[in-house]
Amino acid sequence: MNSKLKINSTLKIKPINYFKGETEVQGDKSISHRAILLGGLLEGSITINNFLESEDTLNTARAYQKMGIEIKGLETKNVTIKGKGLNGLIEPDGILDLGNSGTSMRLLLGILSGQNFYSVVTGDKSLCRRPMQRVTIPLKKMGALIYGREKANFAPLTIIGKKLNGINFKSNVSSAQVKSCLILAGLFAKGTTVVTEPILSRDHTERMLAYFGANIKKKNILTTSITSKKKLLAKDIFVPGDISSAAYFIIGALILKNSKVTIKNVGINPTRTGILDILKNMGAKITLTNYRNINDEPVADITACSSKLNGTEISGDIIPRLIDEIPIIAIAAACADGETIIKNAGELRVKESDRIKTVTNGLTTLGIKVKELPDGMIIRGGMFSAGNKKFNSYGDHRIAMSFAIAGLKIQGGIVINDTDCINTSFPEFTNILKNLSY
Ligand code: S3P
Repeated sequence: MNSKLKINSTLKIKPINYFKGETEVQGDKSISHRAILLGGLLEGSITINNFLESEDTLNTARAYQKMGIEIKGLETKNVTIKGKGLNGLIEPDGILDLGNSGTSMRLLLGILSGQNFYSVVTGDKSLCRRPMQRVTIPLKKMGALIYGREKANFAPLTIIGKKLNGINFKSNVSSAQVKSCLILAGLFAKGTTVVTEPILSRDHTERMLAYFGANIKKKNILTTSITSKKKLLAKDIFVPGDISSAAYFIIGALILKNSKVTIKNVGINPTRTGILDILKNMGAKITLTNYRNINDEPVADITACSSKLNGTEISGDIIPRLIDEIPIIAIAAACADGETIIKNAGELRVKESDRIKTVTNGLTTLGIKVKELPDGMIIRGGMFSAGNKKFNSYGDHRIAMSFAIAGLKIQGGIVINDTDCINTSFPEFTNILKNLSY
């Protein structure tokens, strides 16, 4: 990783007057991972424009490099990757360490299961605690051999790839990582692989595979089928700005007085825009302009202005459309009038940290009344208490960035420890924060 992008492990945030200006945020993390993972399987080279250079996406790229894929320009925003076709990966001669990245591990497991070789994946402490049976059980049903702690639920995991058979799998979690893992395995399977999810999750894998000419179909909104094809077409990709990164500055502008921020070129795939719907329900002044479509992904510029927010309920089908934004939405809820109820979000417990616990602990430290629920929380809007607050990110990038935004409104400021984790998804966060702050 480029050293100029490194963030000190402690972040000191002082209160500011307002947010103002125009910015872009770095490329979408989910799309960047997929561009590498699929790019290496294409027939020929492509350029991935506006690739997110972050620890998570670099871990995916490094794993592919260990499997013989040539990737250049990782320290720039324009990466070239030389696809070697569907049968071009070679056995890695070491362990694939995927750091903190759940997306790298779960999506790669789908690909590795269909290879004619042996591989081992591992990650950091947090990743080795995250549940993997949700993918290893169906992959084993497809024919792969996978071994790991607690019946292949926890990394390190050993994979002995096999000639896979398509399955018809009904997932009981709404997870794009599970869906994508099985779709990717389906690229290497005999017959058709069908995946059904209970609620629609992000669909970047499906869109990108269709763009590369794969045999992929939506049977209905919740069911996707894929049948292997000999070749995927090499076509360049543009990665839109990450709405999950834009979320910090959108909410910063809403909760600070006299503020107005425009974030250009943000991906607004409808499976990711739950945050905009909820904030608008809460009374947020947000406008979208300059709509366009790039490689089958919708993009727009987003403007947010200071707003008087009201509490709301966040539950049901919207949850997968805003799952990564709940920590920063919790900060908006803390600044809103009345109560915000978040339910049906039990998946938060198995993210980079247990985000129900880490968000409720954080808000309590800031003097906000919050009640932890098994699958969410109830937040009563109020004032952040004053004082030089000391905080821990729990090694979770989204907790670090969410509480950094809260810090802009805390008299006396906030010191957040263990903020290297911000590099996993958004190394330019602090620079942009400084540029927008007055
Ligand atoms: C992601 C899917 C989501 C999300 C994660 C990225 C992806 O995880 O939380 O940050 O790129 O597929 P789940 O599929 O576990 O919900």
